[in-house]
Amino acid sequence: MNDDRRWESWSSLWDLSPGVTYLNHGSFGPPPRPVQEARRRWQQQLDRQPMEFFMRQYEPAWFAARRRLAAFIGADERDLVFVENATAAMNVVAASLDLGPDDDVLLTDHEYGAVQRIWQRAVSRTGNAEARIAELPDRIETAGQVVDAIFAAAGPRTRLLVVSHITSPTAITLPVQAIVREARQRGILVCVDGPHAPAQVPVDLAQWGCDFYCASLHKWLSAPFGSGFLYVRPEHQPRIAPPHLSWGRLLPHRPENWSDEFIWSGTRDPSAVLAVPAAIDFLQQVGEETFRQHGYDLATYARHRLAEWTGLTPITPDDRQWFTCMAHAPLPPGDATRLQRELWQRHAIEVPIVSWKDRRWIRVSCHLYNRREDIDRLMGALGQLFDPSSPASGQR
Ligand SMILES: Cc1ncc(COP(=O)(O)O)c(C=O)c1O
Repeated sequence: MNDDRRWESWSSLWDLSPGVTYLNHGSFGPPPRPVQEARRRWQQQLDRQPMEFFMRQYEPAWFAARRRLAAFIGADERDLVFVENATAAMNVVAASLDLGPDDDVLLTDHEYGAVQRIWQRAVSRTGNAEARIAELPDRIETAGQVVDAIFAAAGPRTRLLVVSHITSPTAITLPVQAIVREARQRGILVCVDGPHAPAQVPVDLAQWGCDFYCASLHKWLSAPFGSGFLYVRPEHQPRIAPPHLSWGRLLPHRPENWSDEFIWSGTRDPSAVLAVPAAIDFLQQVGEETFRQHGYDLATYARHRLAEWTGLTPITPDDRQWFTCMAHAPLPPGDATRLQRELWQRHAIEVPIVSWKDRRWIRVSCHLYNRREDIDRLMGALGQLFDPSSPASGQR
């Protein structure tokens, strides 16, 4: 099969609404058909014979799915549990960590808003502790700049650093390995917020040595919505508790370790996590590097088109060190919500326009089903909506 036909056959596996230009896989990544079908098969088994499903199939399937995920992200399976999403994972860490009244938590100014809220609430319950913010430079060229900026904001009270692997408002791949190394030397725990990373970049948890890693798999891996994981280093596992205490394991088994407590948390539909191996199979059939190179080429094209049009420079250089499948670029000042709405209402383009640090930015996700024509359509629509060199552009 030639290249064009191969790309066509992969794209045709997504059931995206016809006529919509979908450039937001980074927020909500829809699953391709083989993954949808895998999930549906689990649901059918559940609906047809619940006793057979729950009593005999569920636990072995959960363990098999976890084993597959562990191999994909370079972790020991005993250090992983499935959760619904990165938010659930982060809440488990925040609820389980015994923050003392003088323990500060440090976050960067590029962290996801809901994650900031989780940690603000956690520290507000402890007494004098604070959630402090490390400001990264306006223009980032080297990993050293990021590491220095983070640790310049750390102090003797810093107990935990919460840092994104790939940031949400700015789509930057942060140098997690170097950050974790420095934190460990200073005795600071690290919780990595990683929902954009699996599939988009290689993840090797055992190598990195972070304390906690929280991720959703319904973003770049295109696993079903409602699938995510929490990784916890062995020494912290005894203090990690599930949000809903239940049997842990299905009777007659009893939970024997921290991860068992997350297997059975009451009756529910677990098909999303059981279909995670199908999402890994799909990505590996395409080829992880083929997928990443496609996303990177397209994201680079989008960045160049946007920079040419606005005359504004992105935060990071053109380099896979800093981004893979998401292009992030500044836009002239203006109303972000209105521009996003108009792109949707007038041009059927779904793309996030982000208001961050009093500036307006665009984040363009490039998955397997996206093509240069999608970026060209976006540029055409932006050009119709406003002229970036005109002083009146801010009204858009
Ligand atoms: C960096 C980051 N962290 C956490 C989340 C929350 O992910 P979820 O809604 O899947 O829990 C997001 C969602 O976009 C994100 O971008």
